[in-house]
This record gives sequence, C-alpha cells and structure tokens, in this order.
Amino acid sequence: MKEKLELILKSAEEEIEKAQTLQDLEETKLKYLSRKGELNSIKKNLKDLSDEDKRIIGSLANSVYNQLDEAINKKNDELYKIELNKKLSEEKIDITLPSDITPQGKVHPLTQTINEITQIFQGLGFSVMASENSPEVETEYINFDMLNFPPNHPAKDMQDTFYTKTAPNVILRSQTSGAQIRQMLHQSPPVRVISPGRVYRCESVSARKNNLFHQIEGLLVDKDITFADLKGILNEFVRIYFGASRPTRFRASYFPFTEPSAEVDVQCIMCGGKGCRTCSGTGWLEVLGAGMVHANVLRNVGIDPEIYSGFAFGMGVERLTMLKYAINDIRLFFNNDVRFLNQF
Ligand code: PHE
Repeated sequence: MKEKLELILKSAEEEIEKAQTLQDLEETKLKYLSRKGELNSIKKNLKDLSDEDKRIIGSLANSVYNQLDEAINKKNDELYKIELNKKLSEEKIDITLPSDITPQGKVHPLTQTINEITQIFQGLGFSVMASENSPEVETEYINFDMLNFPPNHPAKDMQDTFYTKTAPNVILRSQTSGAQIRQMLHQSPPVRVISPGRVYRCESVSARKNNLFHQIEGLLVDKDITFADLKGILNEFVRIYFGASRPTRFRASYFPFTEPSAEVDVQCIMCGGKGCRTCSGTGWLEVLGAGMVHANVLRNVGIDPEIYSGFAFGMGVERLTMLKYAINDIRLFFNNDVRFLNQF
C-alpha cells in the first residue's frame, strides 16, 4: 500500500506538471483527490489493516493528499495567470481610437414642467394624487355631472369631448377636474393634493391648440378655507415658477364647479404686455382657471359645505411651458423633432 501511495504521488505530480489548462488540472484533481478518486479508494481499504499499519498508511495517505492539494493550488495560480494574460492580450482595446458619441436622452420639456410644478406644490404642502384616482378614460358622470355641469352644458357636446363607442357615457376626459371628485370620494378632509395628467378635446389642431394636452389639477379642502388662501397659493406658485418680475392678474370667470371662479393671466412673454399676435393684442395670457369648490360639488361627494370649504385650480402644462421658454407652437411638443427637444 505504501508503494501504491508513492506511485499515486509520483504519477499525480507528473500529471499536474504536464497540465496545460485549468481544465486539465481540474480533471487531475478529480482523478486523484475527489471522493471517487484514487486516494480515497486507498483510504477505504484501511479498515482491513492492523492498527499499526492503519496509523502509518493513514498518515502517509494524508500527507500525499496535502502535498497534491498544495501542488494543484500552486499550478492553478500559474495557469490562471497564463490564461488571464492570454485573454487580456487577445482582447486588448485601442484606447487611442476615437469613440462613438452615445447620444444622451433627455427628459421631455412637458415632463420637466410637470416635475418642476409638482415640486413647487410639494413645497407648499400638497401631495401628488394616486394615479388610480385620476384615470384618462373617464365617465361622463365624473367628468361633468358630479362637477355640477348642467345636463345640456355645451362642453358635453360631441364637438368638444371624445366619446367612446365601446360603452355609453365613457369618454376621454376633457379636464383633470374629475380627479377632484375621485379624491374626495376616497378621502375625507383635510385634502391637499395635485394631479397632473393628460386630457383630450375634440378640437382642430393649430399652433395654439392640440387635441391632447396636459393639465395639473389642484384641490384643497379643509375648515375655514377662503379665496384669500387660493390667491396666496397661486401667487406664490406664479412667483416661484415665472420669477417675481412677471406681472399677473386675477380675472373673474365662470366654471360650473367653482363659485366664485377666476382665471389667472400672466403678462405676455412675447410682447411684454404691449399686445401681439400670441396674446391677441391684450398683453396678457391665461394660464389657469381656479375658484372656490362649489357647494353642490362638496354635497355630491358627501362633504358638508357648512363645515368645510375649499379651492381648486387647473393649469395647462403646455401653456405654462410655452410661456416660460417663448415657444410659439404647441405642436412642437408632440412632433418629437430632436432639434427642438435637444434644446431643453
Ligand atoms: N378644469 C378647468 C378647465 O379645464 C380648469 C379649472 C380647474 C377651473 C379647477 C377651476 C378649478 O378649464
């Protein structure tokens, strides 16, 4: 057995020496050191020996094992280095070659505006409504009826609103205001949320109008909310978004779901208030609609208007982006011309 061990040691050492690749070495290791390997088959036969021989042969077998293990590890390091160097020299790259320019994607200007406005309102204590309360495919009931639109209101006309053929009274929402209803049905006051999203109107496309555009809806309902709170919030928003130097004005207006209602104008960026084509000669451009939430709307969602009051506003994202960057055609946002998009 002793001779046999010596033979194993000798032939294993030769094989290790001869191994050319890590693969060869692995095979040698399996052949000699694994559980089914040659050394182990000797160890299995130890039980037939005398105690004395068991001790001698056993310790010899262990020492052969250790010697081979060490030799294999050493050879493994050598072969690893050789293979690595070979790989490195084969895969060498020429770092002096000019590189391909990887074009970098950018955030779309409308998304930039939405992000910026969202941040402003978050700073003013508003949170962003969960998108499930603000679906783009909406019912006429939520988009109009719950918002106190009388049954024959012209906005419900087929000319303004996209109706679907699949289900009666299912529409593409014409405004984000329906999100107010869904939020108030879902949450009792205090409510303080904004909700950005797409809206659709059946309009002929022009430099000023597209049949898909974006709005950001805002809603605040609590005790003792007054028009002064609305003015304060909106003035603060305009000041942060446009900078303090841009004049604004509040104008009385009408929406079925707010009373009183107002529209906010900012001075025209194109002409500085002198009057031009963009502002139809008025010197002002409307950027948002707003007002105190109508008592009927609060009642519709089960909020007592004697206890709570609130305000709502809705702003056009395209309009606000065009005014900030002096863009004169709304269609530019939707054409995906990189020469335009690259500028943001
Ligand atoms: N939804 C209105 C529009 O699309 C804007 C608005 C929102 C007005 C909230 C008042 C309150 O014109």
